[in-house]
Amino acid sequence: MSQNKIVIAIDGYSSSGKSTMARDLARRIGYAYIDSGAMYRAVTLYAIRNGLVNADGKLNNDALIAALPDIRIDFHIDPESKKSHTFLNGEDVEKEIRGMEVSALVSPVAVIPEVRRQLVKLQQQYGIEKGIVMDGRDIGTTVFPDAEMKVFVNASPEVRARRRLLELQQKGQNVSYEEIHENIMERDRIDTTRKESPLRKAPDAIMLDNDNMTIPEQMDFLLNLFREKTSC
Ligand code: CDP
Repeated sequence: MSQNKIVIAIDGYSSSGKSTMARDLARRIGYAYIDSGAMYRAVTLYAIRNGLVNADGKLNNDALIAALPDIRIDFHIDPESKKSHTFLNGEDVEKEIRGMEVSALVSPVAVIPEVRRQLVKLQQQYGIEKGIVMDGRDIGTTVFPDAEMKVFVNASPEVRARRRLLELQQKGQNVSYEEIHENIMERDRIDTTRKESPLRKAPDAIMLDNDNMTIPEQMDFLLNLFREKTSC
């Protein structure tokens, strides 16, 4: 592979398979992988655990903004699975951040400009030396507008809901298709309509509609694009 390391930004709708795709690509090309959504999820878990969400699910934005200096997020490779796990203030929270309780609140948390500013700064630090694949909603538009390779992923809401249902069932979580479908639609709505860094395809991003693509087909697509971008 090329010596000239680049930045790869993968954005797209919830449960479109971005994270699996980004992680597998990073492994194949020997790059670091950062899941930016995991950071928003970790901040959300902090809010839930610290009483910043009231009984009807309303978030105390001011208290969360005041608590931001107390929230430390980092990633460590799990020795057993060899996968990157998300840590919140030194604790492995990888499992907790993937549940429906966090999913239901993460998009309202991700709307808060102060939260975004803090996390974007951290994400940009990870990219300083390049050689990184990052996935999220605003990576190609806000975090790394100069990324050399940008991909925007989509699939129909029904396909995405079925994929997420399978993933959560495999983790032993008891959720219904309807609950997941509703959560996906609601997050899409909030993510695309928020004022700060809404989910948008960057003009120079390549569209990847993966409704009818297998995982190996998707990988071939990404590897071809990577070779194209690094062969100059
Ligand atoms: O469920 P999925 O894996 O698709 O989502 P995620 O990547 O874990 O992100 C969870 C939520 O965090 C999204 O629905 C967005 O509201 C927010 N997010 C964001 O605003 N900006 C990012 N760069 C990444 C995630």
